[in-house]
Amino acid sequence: MLLPVEEFVSRLVEPHGGLWAVEDRIVVGDCLTALRHMPDSSVDLIHTSPPYNIDKAYKGDHGDKQGLERYLDFLRQVIREMKRVLKPNASLFWQTGYTQTENAVAGDILPIDMLSYPFFKEEPPLILWDRIIWRYFGGMAFKRKYTNRHETILWFVKPVDGAATPAFDVDTIRERSRELDKRNNFWGRNPGNVWEVDRVAYGTTEQSSHIAVYPEEVAEKIIRASSKPGDLVVDPFSGSGTTCKVARSLGRRWIGIEISPEYAKESVMRIGFQQPGEVQSLASAILREKVFGGRPGSLPLEEISRRLTPWARATPVDRCRHLFQDALSTVFPNGREAKPRVWQRFDQLIDSGNTHDPVVEADTLLLASYRNRRNQNGVYRYRTGLETLEALVMRVAQSGADTLKGFIEELVAAEPSSYRLQGTNVALLRVDRRLKPPAHASQLEVPWLQAPMEIAAGSADIAHDTPSAPSDEAYQPSLFTSGGQG
Ligand SMILES: C[S@@+](CC[C@H](N)C(=O)[O-])C[C@H]1O[C@@H](n2cnc3c(N)ncnc32)[C@H](O)[C@@H]1O
Repeated sequence: MLLPVEEFVSRLVEPHGGLWAVEDRIVVGDCLTALRHMPDSSVDLIHTSPPYNIDKAYKGDHGDKQGLERYLDFLRQVIREMKRVLKPNASLFWQTGYTQTENAVAGDILPIDMLSYPFFKEEPPLILWDRIIWRYFGGMAFKRKYTNRHETILWFVKPVDGAATPAFDVDTIRERSRELDKRNNFWGRNPGNVWEVDRVAYGTTEQSSHIAVYPEEVAEKIIRASSKPGDLVVDPFSGSGTTCKVARSLGRRWIGIEISPEYAKESVMRIGFQQPGEVQSLASAILREKVFGGRPGSLPLEEISRRLTPWARATPVDRCRHLFQDALSTVFPNGREAKPRVWQRFDQLIDSGNTHDPVVEADTLLLASYRNRRNQNGVYRYRTGLETLEALVMRVAQSGADTLKGFIEELVAAEPSSYRLQGTNVALLRVDRRLKPPAHASQLEVPWLQAPMEIAAGSADIAHDTPSAPSDEAYQPSLFTSGGQG
């Protein structure tokens, strides 16, 4: 997944090269060099956060304390290149906080979005489509002013003939309305442009040794709403790989650029914990939780596929789809009065952790496979869960033994930080804390697993020995993220 910037450039320019030859990679090197070699109008979405020039102790010490003029000139050049590589109507999300001058009076802050805004407006200008506030909790307490608890995200769009029509699929990010008010949109509300999302700090589940990680939930909202599967998402300052990890798990193509080899290497490990695409993520969660029982170990490929088939047969997707549709059809003919009742019913589904309803099962597993599913609340979340589950059940149920083994092999290869194929055995190397399901999920009854199964001789059970693998130490935080980001 790692690609030195020189190799990136030569793959782009060689006769049969092009973007296809450098996608799904973390490029190690200067983003300005990398961006300058990328073709015009080739990128569907950029979500990035530049260094803030506040002397942060980034690994590799790539000069986070230049003079203000030099820093702004650097940002200006990067912005010019980002504008050039964006496709018409594509979006750019510029996430920033504050910088300071070398001789600043203590406490005199300079907002990076204000300083850099004019560069976005230089010819050819982008349109500032929205200004999002990411509001977080915690952070280092200030003594003589209000503790900083926000960052801004400027959403720019590359116009066509002076007008912009950016992609915005709000249905994919609707959140649960606060009240069961019958006037509310049943599918959930537009999340608005103030996002309350916890910071990634010590003890949380997305931490890495990077000191300025933004939360996956922020990246997920942006990528879901402003791109579609198959689109190319780029982060020129990819750090711990948040944008790339989320893009991959949502089935987008992606390129990250990071100057620090240490961060680049670590981000590859982080991205390697996530299957590309939702069906694969769910399949991986089922493998981890249902087939391996949530513990590292090793199982014959044959045995895994033997266990998946009864799981697919025992998952009553049809019955569940009807239940789901019944609930919705009560709402629409009866209109407003029915909405609160149906909402309550969905709420009961969410809260009753031990139901056998496959929608809940899919939802729990989706949460396990990708923790930020929680930002899609309400009915939409169940619909996505059900559709994803259905696609997987069909895939498993309709596959012959060899096709199923091939599918498992693909899954394993695509999540190298979690699995390894060792001859005809699959080893689950570790269960990333970040991917653990909520407590109640482990109490879910799994009828197909409890049913007596015919097990091939020699493959009777999971060998719970942890195979040799990179140790979990690699994922321990070495630094405490104390401020916002940058
Ligand atoms: C604010 S952090 C980005 C954090 C990232 N959003 C995440 O979630 O992990 C900025 C990153 O830009 C990197 N960086 C600084 N100068 C760079 C350059 N010229 N080219 C590429 N990356 C650079 C830093 O090493 C740092 O990891």
